[in-house]
Amino acid sequence: IIVKANRPVATIQPHMWGIFFEDINMGADGGIYAELVKNRSFEFFKPLMGWKVQGKKVKEGDVTVLHQEKEKPSNPRFLRLKPKQAVVGDMGLLNEGFRGMGVKKGLRYDFSLQYRLTGTAKLHVILEDSSSEVLGRAELPLTTSAAWSTKGISFESSATVLKARLKIWVEGDGVLDMDMVSLFPTDTWKSRPGGMRSDMIQWLADMKPGFVRFPGGCIVEGFDLANRYRWKNTIGPVDQRQLIMNRWNIEFAHRLTPDYFQSFGLGFFEYFQLSEDIGAEPLPIVNCGMACQYNSAEFASLDELDPYIQDALDLIEFANGDVTTVWGKVRADMGHPAPFNLKMMGIGNENWGPQYIERLKLFTDAILKKYPGFKIVNSSGTDPEGERFNYLDKELRNMNASIIDEHYYRRPEWFLQNASRYDQYPREGSKIFAGEYAAQTDRGASPNNTNNWRGAIAEAAFMTGLERNAGVVEMASYAPLFAHAEGWQWKPDLIWVNNLQSYGTPNYYVQKLFATNKGTHVLSILFNNETLAGKDSLYASAALDSIAGEVVIKLVNVSSRSVIKPIVLEGVKKVDQRGKLILLRHDVPEAENSFEQPLNVAPAEKEIKITGKKIQFEMPARSFSVLRIKVR
Ligand code: AHR
Repeated sequence: IIVKANRPVATIQPHMWGIFFEDINMGADGGIYAELVKNRSFEFFKPLMGWKVQGKKVKEGDVTVLHQEKEKPSNPRFLRLKPKQAVVGDMGLLNEGFRGMGVKKGLRYDFSLQYRLTGTAKLHVILEDSSSEVLGRAELPLTTSAAWSTKGISFESSATVLKARLKIWVEGDGVLDMDMVSLFPTDTWKSRPGGMRSDMIQWLADMKPGFVRFPGGCIVEGFDLANRYRWKNTIGPVDQRQLIMNRWNIEFAHRLTPDYFQSFGLGFFEYFQLSEDIGAEPLPIVNCGMACQYNSAEFASLDELDPYIQDALDLIEFANGDVTTVWGKVRADMGHPAPFNLKMMGIGNENWGPQYIERLKLFTDAILKKYPGFKIVNSSGTDPEGERFNYLDKELRNMNASIIDEHYYRRPEWFLQNASRYDQYPREGSKIFAGEYAAQTDRGASPNNTNNWRGAIAEAAFMTGLERNAGVVEMASYAPLFAHAEGWQWKPDLIWVNNLQSYGTPNYYVQKLFATNKGTHVLSILFNNETLAGKDSLYASAALDSIAGEVVIKLVNVSSRSVIKPIVLEGVKKVDQRGKLILLRHDVPEAENSFEQPLNVAPAEKEIKITGKKIQFEMPARSFSVLRIKVR
């Protein structure tokens, strides 16, 4: 195997390996958004979903849901309670959380609510386990107030419990209106109140992703246009963000999650902030005036497209405008006067046909007119090789599209066979974003798909092909990112969580190894003058990391036998005697990680001795090796 270390073939984009976040599989509410109360604002389709009214003295009409759209346009519902000389046990509420509430021993929890009160009332706020054992409690006296006000209190949990719940007893007399009833852990990411679940975000930060694509996915399209993602409804004070039903609140993969909504406590400001926190480029995707074509296939007609285009223009201003601009000021008022430096945006997700091209052209003209040089990510549909794809690819290239977003959810064999997919792509013109991909170990949207090593190693093999072609493929991201063990719709997924724990799949470690060992330039790596893209079940790519002064070689052996081959580093004066090998391997193709065995398939790092420019290198059976060698 010969690596030409002094002849870079192409530049690798610093943001090449990124992440794709979508609120699917309880990724946001019940996932990274750390709110523990489900349906805190009573805006779910069924206003009391997630809640139970309880107490010895609750009579018909004592607890009602009111709707005041004039007064509270984006969050019209609230709960009215009429306690009559109530004491603890007489009138109360129970919230079940998102598949329960995960709470930790010794950690403080912030409870808050919006309320108005005629009469007197005190709340007894209790965190309890499923057998009503009290884990923590606090008393919150409320003051009489005709206007809505917010009050909160914090308390500690005495135990770690996977499925706790929140109970609230009302003591007092009068009329109490309640809204935005909330409970947050205090160990959120960067300790931000009302923030994100830190263990989940840490997985992302550890990957050092080059970009964060958000908010999806089909979420962007909606099953109809009314259900599409509208970023302007996701910013500003959380109680003014208008909740909608999650697009994944449908029967999918034989599963139904009827309590799946988007509260938008996690919105576009938070996505930009997250990208900044973890050093990644933000990549928002906006609706192009088309709903999901598999569902409603609803289009906004061309003469109705202006508000959609305006949303895209305003988003750039929201991200980058200074405080003298309308949307730049909104961002500044939310606590971020500095711009987020947005450089690219996707128009549409998995949209296709002439309808997409017509709409895309209008978006592109308007955006480039106002922001010349801005990068637009263009959809190429859902099928990486069929007629639809070919049509779009041709049209997009004719438009001189800057980036074409290709998606492929396919069998592991497809990934192995397609490791040279980009070898023949034109080097000039449009670049590629492999925006969503995953090896499906069963088939299609099957609930039997798993995150096993067979799928992950096929992805690693394929990704060597992406890296070899980094001159064409500028960005790539696995999808979906997160899944809750009790709330998923789609498999496989990169990171699995329950209410307290999370683990990275073998696929996660493949992504992480690419992202944290990406290098700056592609180097040629050949065996008998041929690219290693499946010959003898071997796959390889090489990169120069000009910052670290290292050659980074990635080798994938998908066969069941170990292979030893000499690797020759050409064009270097000196090779450091100490190299680093990171090895990800497992003998069993069906091996998976789990909550019980999170590191069953995980990388191991060791130092290796190098005695010259020729290295006898062993690639164990079913392995992915990353070799880092300092050179001069
Ligand atoms: O990643 C899951 C879904 O797959 C995305 O929402 C969609 O873009 C694709 O079809």
